[in-house]
Amino acid sequence: MNFKEELEQKVQRINEVIKSYLPREEGFQKTLMEAMNYSMLSGGKRLRPLLMQETYRMFGGTERVVEPFMAAMEMIHTHSLIHDDLPALDNDEYRRGRKTTHVVYGEAMAILAGDALLNYAYETAAMSFSMDEDRKRTTEAFRILTKKTGVYGMLGGQCVDVQSEGQAVSKEKLDFIYRLKTSALIEASMMVGAVLGGATKEQVSIVEKAARDVGLAFQIQDDILDVVSTMEVLGKPVFSDEENQKTTYVTIEGIEKAGKEVEEISGRALEALDSLGFTNPFLRELIQSLVHREK
Ligand code: IPE
Ligand code: IPE
Ligand code: MG
Ligand code: MG
Ligand code: MG
Repeated sequence: MNFKEELEQKVQRINEVIKSYLPREEGFQKTLMEAMNYSMLSGGKRLRPLLMQETYRMFGGTERVVEPFMAAMEMIHTHSLIHDDLPALDNDEYRRGRKTTHVVYGEAMAILAGDALLNYAYETAAMSFSMDEDRKRTTEAFRILTKKTGVYGMLGGQCVDVQSEGQAVSKEKLDFIYRLKTSALIEASMMVGAVLGGATKEQVSIVEKAARDVGLAFQIQDDILDVVSTMEVLGKPVFSDEENQKTTYVTIEGIEKAGKEVEEISGRALEALDSLGFTNPFLRELIQSLVHREK
């Protein structure tokens, strides 16, 4: 099986896992569940659960305890996208090839669906506790998941991102924004995988460092795609950053230099991972494939 086929198979399996943890659409609050599921089932690359699963496997994990965390991570990520697209934030009308949640369900329901997914993520991750006898690994994984999502992680990054619109932003500040708004969830994904797989503290901190670079490279490539791709390929609008007067790697460095940075930073991530002395060739190839991703 080549990489592409293996990737497709893994994503298909991850989609089944995610589906199994989604809420049933019933009761007076049925519309809320529908809005949650609408965005969760619109596709998406499933990169974060994939990185989590593959890091877990790299450390020798073979159990199902990682699955609630994989589903939870995709819920947190999807919550971040629903809210990121709201008129008050990036004001985008397409996501994952479909109309955004606020366009279909209205703003109030999109706000609630985002909130509900974020909370459902923790309800879901907590299901792992009964799969872990002494709860040591699942408790630590849960701690990481919550911290990397909040004010010291993704949400903190989104704060500085929206506050910086229309302003000159230094490279230092931009790196701060990217480390939080994008790297934090990728760090959490890989760190949770490592912790559940039995990695030591030192190993988890190397994984964190590698994941930080994977996230940084991922966001720079996202900036590039925003100006060189098309809505048909991306499934989301292009030139969204320009419209919102965002400073990005592309506005600071230009497309070519930004592209070189993606390569360089990804190479650094792989070096850090290699230094661990564990191997997962699929994980390596996955990170490498992100350098030239087209969506
Ligand atoms: C989009 O993430 C948000 C960023 C951090 C750039 P993805 O590009 O992983 O979006 P999906 O999950 O595939 O839709
Ligand atoms: C992604 O930033 C950060 C989060 C959604 C948390 P963007 O605003 O660049 O993501 P896209 O381009 O809308 O997917
Ligand atoms: Mg944004
Ligand atoms: Mg956006
Ligand atoms: Mg973007």
